[in-house]
Amino acid sequence: MRRSFRQLETQQHALEYAQRLNNEWPERAQICQHIAQQVVHTADHLHTAAPHVLELCCGPGMLAEALLVALPTMRYVGIDLSPTLLEFTRQRIQLHDGRIMLIQANLNENAWLDQLAVYDAASPFHAIVTMQSLHDLGGEPEVSRIYGLARELLVPGGLFLNADLVVAPGVELPNNPGRRSIARHLALLEQHGYTNSHSTLTVAGFGCVVGNLPA
Ligand SMILES: C[S@@+](CC[C@H](N)C(=O)[O-])C[C@H]1O[C@@H](n2cnc3c(N)ncnc32)[C@H](O)[C@@H]1O
Repeated sequence: MRRSFRQLETQQHALEYAQRLNNEWPERAQICQHIAQQVVHTADHLHTAAPHVLELCCGPGMLAEALLVALPTMRYVGIDLSPTLLEFTRQRIQLHDGRIMLIQANLNENAWLDQLAVYDAASPFHAIVTMQSLHDLGGEPEVSRIYGLARELLVPGGLFLNADLVVAPGVELPNNPGRRSIARHLALLEQHGYTNSHSTLTVAGFGCVVGNLPA
């Protein structure tokens, strides 16, 4: 049975979901490494010894694991809607316990911003990253809202990175309005005041777009 992230109830469901994503998009491992390198580069650029990184929609924790390995002093916060996937991630990265925090929240609501503060994770982030997820929030308004909120959570010069499934310019998918073109993502980043917005990778239907908070 092909379950959506809303239908995952057991750890076996979570495992099958994680495996299905990687079977359908084997390039996800390459994308994780690419994102980790972007964050390493940002941490070097910002001269921080302990980068603070937020992942939106961490799902089964594949990117979290790659980040924690690539950045041994990183403090990581992951947010996701699914308690089942968060438990899967907690077990997956428990080796790094002490520098991880996982938060269950709906990113389309505002409570996650307060939750960050409650958990004392409200200190600004050097990087905010997300993979294969923002299209699931709805359409362009939901994606744009996240771009705007993320801007308030970054240190000056901090990195926002979204690696998501994209469409060709001008294409609209009525059943999947959150899939935007790289050009639209870059335009949204610029509208929200990010600088140096550009695409760093296109592979297998994914586009990775980045922007920086002005220094
Ligand atoms: C396709 S999965 C990708 C997961 C992970 N980023 C990865 O690439 O392995 C999409 C993720 O977005 C999460 N998600 C969808 N809508 C959400 C929302 N409104 N708030 C928070 N998380 C959400 C789902 O629970 C799921 O984990």
